[in-house]
Amino acid sequence: MNTTPSMQGLAHKRSVATLDRARRIQRIKKLLVERDAVLVAHYYTDADLQALAEETGGYVSDSLDMARFGHEHKAKTLVVAGVRFMGETAKILNPEKRVLMPTLEATCSLDESCPADDFRAFCDAHPDRTVVVYANTSAAVKARADWVVTSSIALRLARHLAARGEKILWAPDRHLGDYVRRESGADMLLWQGSCVVHEEFRAQALLDLRKRHPDACVLAHPESPAAVLALADMIGSTSAMIEAARTRPARRFIVATDNGILYKMRQAAPGKEFLEAPTGGRGATCKSCAHCPWMAMNTLASLEAVLTTGGPEIHIEESIRQRALEPVLRMLKFAAAEKTEVLGLGNA
Ligand code: 13P
Ligand code: SF4
Repeated sequence: MNTTPSMQGLAHKRSVATLDRARRIQRIKKLLVERDAVLVAHYYTDADLQALAEETGGYVSDSLDMARFGHEHKAKTLVVAGVRFMGETAKILNPEKRVLMPTLEATCSLDESCPADDFRAFCDAHPDRTVVVYANTSAAVKARADWVVTSSIALRLARHLAARGEKILWAPDRHLGDYVRRESGADMLLWQGSCVVHEEFRAQALLDLRKRHPDACVLAHPESPAAVLALADMIGSTSAMIEAARTRPARRFIVATDNGILYKMRQAAPGKEFLEAPTGGRGATCKSCAHCPWMAMNTLASLEAVLTTGGPEIHIEESIRQRALEPVLRMLKFAAAEKTEVLGLGNA
């Protein structure tokens, strides 16, 4: 085949990009060792970052296990590839460690929806309620909470609190809160935040897709709207979704969460087919991409930069950190007790 100058230009650009990528990966590996640092990445981050975490003795997981891994690892520096609340949770748990992030601008719409002053006023107006906040919040919001939870334990904790006769004030995700309330029957007052990624999934378009693939198993993250969850065969945290893809007999899955998770799903369930749940829907004039814009800020270039310069680093005011520590530790203790099915917890 004859190649035109523009095709040759494109091929040249591609080979430069491949070399650049390989060079960065090698340099990051070297810097991680030199800095006594370990890389902890979320499933929604770029596949290159997830692979790097795994190849260098780091970890790729959901937000609960990221916190647990960072807490238990002996490295002096944690490099958290994810969004800011994940870095803050790591710092709350590990004040003696340096916690670096490729960028501190990687926020989360749930975190943004819940300013600490407004949240404290909301809590003060409902003193009879146990305050449960999702991990996707700032350290200052966690500092006002009785419990912190992630999606992997939210439902179990709500059932646990309801069984003790406690009424819950829940923040900030209204879809997850609504799902937990319906499933647990707990008395829950909800803050009205939402995730910009999951809110875009469209039930009617999902129904259309499922009709075209009647054999497909629908997996959904509980941050999705109720109408989407109603069509799901399985609802769970990112880790639970990957586990379902691995263990369920279906050969084809429709996945309603950030599409960064597909890297791990394909690894966990080779040979199975994964379709992204539709966003935008019928007749939409634009289509969202089911990828968190803040997770996407974690790149090889920003990771290399933070390891080179030693910043940006997470800092949390000590009085806030100490107050936030209690509900975060309570979460880890609850999760550990649940794992071993020993629910003998200290009182919240
Ligand atoms: P997981 O705790 O399930 O990993 O979810 C974190 C998150 O930000 C989902 O959007
Ligand atoms: Fe926050 Fe949604 Fe991004 Fe998760 S996917 S970090 S909930 S904005």
